[in-house]
Amino acid sequence: MKRIKIKKLLEGNEKGKQVKVSGWVRTMRDNKNVAFIALNDGSTINNIQIVTTPEVADEELLKDINTGACISATGTLVESQGKGQAFEVQADSVSILGKADPQKYPLQPKKHSMEFLRSIAHLRPRTNTISAVLRIRHALSFAIHKFFNDKGFYYLHTPIITGSDAEGAGEMFRVTTLDMNNPPKDEDGKINYKEDFFGKETNLTVSGQLEGEVGAMALGEVYTFGPTFRAENSNTTRHLAEFWMVEPEMAFYDLSDNMDLAEEFVKYLISYTLEHCADDMVFLDKRATDADKSKPQNERREMGLLDSMKFVAENNFERLTYTEAIDILLQSKPHKKKKFKYPVEWGIDLQSEHERYLVEKHFKTPVILIDYPKDIKAFYMKLNDDNKTVGAMDVLVPGIGELIGGSQREDNLDKLLGRMQEMNVPEEELWWYLELRKFGSAPHSGFGLGFERMVQFVTGMGNIRDVIPFPRTPQSAEF
Ligand code: 4AD
Ligand code: MG
Repeated sequence: MKRIKIKKLLEGNEKGKQVKVSGWVRTMRDNKNVAFIALNDGSTINNIQIVTTPEVADEELLKDINTGACISATGTLVESQGKGQAFEVQADSVSILGKADPQKYPLQPKKHSMEFLRSIAHLRPRTNTISAVLRIRHALSFAIHKFFNDKGFYYLHTPIITGSDAEGAGEMFRVTTLDMNNPPKDEDGKINYKEDFFGKETNLTVSGQLEGEVGAMALGEVYTFGPTFRAENSNTTRHLAEFWMVEPEMAFYDLSDNMDLAEEFVKYLISYTLEHCADDMVFLDKRATDADKSKPQNERREMGLLDSMKFVAENNFERLTYTEAIDILLQSKPHKKKKFKYPVEWGIDLQSEHERYLVEKHFKTPVILIDYPKDIKAFYMKLNDDNKTVGAMDVLVPGIGELIGGSQREDNLDKLLGRMQEMNVPEEELWWYLELRKFGSAPHSGFGLGFERMVQFVTGMGNIRDVIPFPRTPQSAEF
């Protein structure tokens, strides 16, 4: 008999029919006459209840039906008399596929801390919270491709191994096959990367943008969606060393077109999740509300997760310049009362506390900040006429801070060269990037959305390590 997924079973179309289900036991309770097994197969957050009698599952068998065990059951799908579920399976046979010793299985039906779950990353997808997050993560990935495909963007596969530092921040992981205990040296006694695999120094990419621009200058509108790597030693709830980034790059878009696309994109992703992941979202909404109760009043959300997502999907993002944002911060209570940890003045790189003040306290809605000082942004951003600021754009959202970073790109060869010299970006490495400005240059723009931050935003998860199956952070790459 063919197995049916629990998600499908719970729709009820098989009522009265003989069905087969397989999955992992969440709980089991029994008395002399009957046993109730809550079974989950990952297809949905909801369990199916399997009802057995001693004739079907005797004591010998029941003792192995513990939390975590994998079983298969056949029986009739009937409307449930009990509370909490519409349907259940009246089993006529149950078999154990894989036992889970209750003395050793670490996931018991009780509340486990997220920290503990991180230490069992190989088992945590079997919890309600992590499985809900992973299903939403999947839905968001799918929605990203759908959004761009429907708009006629092409998915461009940009390289993971690269010879250039796109962000110029020097936070890269080296890729080498040289013998680290005995590396070849050149005449100056330095490691000779000419003898390395690629004949030059190579790293894991921090962004697919520069190659994305190559795509935009030929295909018009492209996007990349892949893993990116940053060796920044940031132990925060918003940073990973390996994270996924979505980077659209569009010819003929100016900064304002870029903002429009970013806003439409974020709203689309939220609406898609609300529509396609309703059960998981209801679960996470309740979870977020429960978590809030243990927080001090001033740190609680003003709206529940579902309400705040609907709000974001339905309302315009606030748009303002960096300079205007600095003025707001200078006038703000926390600044005047010296509550910010970092100083505020024109020219600073906004800290997460500043970004969150703007979105959570001042505007209470997502914000797009533009025209940042050139000194705190990457070399490729288009210089504004004031010669002080660049056509940058950051999208900031409540609870997260920066979700998207992007810009119009400098398309003038001389200005780009000038910026590269000012910022010590080596021209030799980026000769091909410069040629895009020599041959058929065009105004163009793009942005990068941090995929895990988006998953965090939609799921309300407090720590970025809990929205990726296998987080990579400083001192941690166990699984
Ligand atoms: O602002 P960033 O550094 O922008 C770029 O890399 C551009 N090349 C993008 C582009 O214009 N095509 O990074 C983009 C986004 C950030 O807004 C943030 O959401 C996310 O990537 N991000 C991280 N997410 C998790 N962990 C980290 N260490 C991250 N660093 C950036
Ligand atoms: Mg940024």
